[in-house]
Amino acid sequence: MQTITITGGHTLHGTIRPAAAKNSVLPLLAATLLCGGPCCLRGAPELSDVDTSLALLQAVGAKAVRHGPDLCTLPVAAQGLCGEIPPPLAGAMRSSVFYLAPLLCRTGMVRLPLPGGCRLGPRPVDIHLSGLAAMGAKVELEGEAVTLRRFGPLQGVDFTLRLPSVGATITLVMAACCAMGTTVLRGAACEPEVCDLVEFLRSCGAQITGEGTPVLVIRGRQALDGITYTPMPDRIAAATYAAAVAVTGGKITVAGCAPRYYEAFLRFLEDCGVEVRRGENGAELARDPGRQLRGGQHLYANGWPAFATDNAPLAAAVLLTADRPSEIYDHLFANRFACAAGFAALGADCRAEGRRLWIAGNAVLQGAPVQAPDLRGGAALLVAALAARGTTQLRDPGHIRRGYADLPAELEKLGARCSARRQATPERTPATG
Ligand code: EPZ
Repeated sequence: MQTITITGGHTLHGTIRPAAAKNSVLPLLAATLLCGGPCCLRGAPELSDVDTSLALLQAVGAKAVRHGPDLCTLPVAAQGLCGEIPPPLAGAMRSSVFYLAPLLCRTGMVRLPLPGGCRLGPRPVDIHLSGLAAMGAKVELEGEAVTLRRFGPLQGVDFTLRLPSVGATITLVMAACCAMGTTVLRGAACEPEVCDLVEFLRSCGAQITGEGTPVLVIRGRQALDGITYTPMPDRIAAATYAAAVAVTGGKITVAGCAPRYYEAFLRFLEDCGVEVRRGENGAELARDPGRQLRGGQHLYANGWPAFATDNAPLAAAVLLTADRPSEIYDHLFANRFACAAGFAALGADCRAEGRRLWIAGNAVLQGAPVQAPDLRGGAALLVAALAARGTTQLRDPGHIRRGYADLPAELEKLGARCSARRQATPERTPATG
């Protein structure tokens, strides 16, 4: 358990650069299993989900190590790989699901105990499984585990995703790279992290078109090389820093992350009264701390390019002190707003009703003990505490460190007063992703 102590009321100034995106690095690590040469991912952040992924790769017989800021993998012969994913590693993060396709392709069999993940509501994997089944995989569900086998190579298919799941699109793109013939994926997710995976695979030799649109076409069975690749910047971390300066006031530059990656969030901040200057590869955000933010916002979180679900709790943190009531609806996750209890403990008037969060605004926030319920909810509580009078103790059973290498230290560099203390007794950290 980590306790983050935040003393609110300090404006932020300076420049900050988000690390490589967690939600890109995690699938990319799984995709390296498909490559016939060594791979290196540049500037991979030191997150606990990355550590879990390295442990998972090693557990299935792959060779993956950290070299300073980079993560490097070596190719392994199929005979050296095993398709059994150990339950503690599967359950430790949602991203264990990304190993289904590469291990099925390489070894002919993969067994995945139920993947973990932030408790954002039900998170089934039916689309991953039905897509793989359409390619010829035999799917066996047994208790809480799924086993996939193939007898011969997977076959290219024309497959329509029931809904544009990011994870299922990633799974099926990887599987299609190994399948015989051409695969057409319809209703695919268009998120930048999907495009990043496609760019990585294409640089390795894969033939894929249509990324960023709902129809992807993949010609399979091309030999994939190993490459050195720089994953895209973390757009959710960029939004987190932007939310922080919105609540405290001040002026910061978020460098190294193109504004288009979080344009919906930047537009939302402008609507609230934050000044945003966009550059090609960065954004400058300024807010006069003496002026109250504008509320009256109605946000609808959905898949790209709509307002990102991961940014919904951060938007809520911004709206707590705004001058009018606002509401946020999350189309993707049934339990996105578990952080509402923490906001209320800080003195905000807000109500989470299913997928909807209603926020009264005009809160005078006061530091209090709160607990991070999940990764983005935890980051949102930290942001809200920056705007509170007095001191907040934010207890975090390990959620925040899964998405941000050291969020308190990063914010401190901008002038926030926050520090993290790790409790000596180790506790089991919850799953996320
Ligand atoms: C990814 O989760 C991200 N995680 C999430 O970020 C992010 O919130 C989400 O995409 C949406 O952008 C990772 O990349 C590791 P989905 P994923 O499949 O792939 C339903 C964070 O904080 N669904 O697009 O799990 C599902 O239940 C995390 O960084 C099915 O019904 O998201 C959900 O309601 C949290 N069947 C919706 O689709 C399936 O087979 C969207 O899920 C798959 C998904």
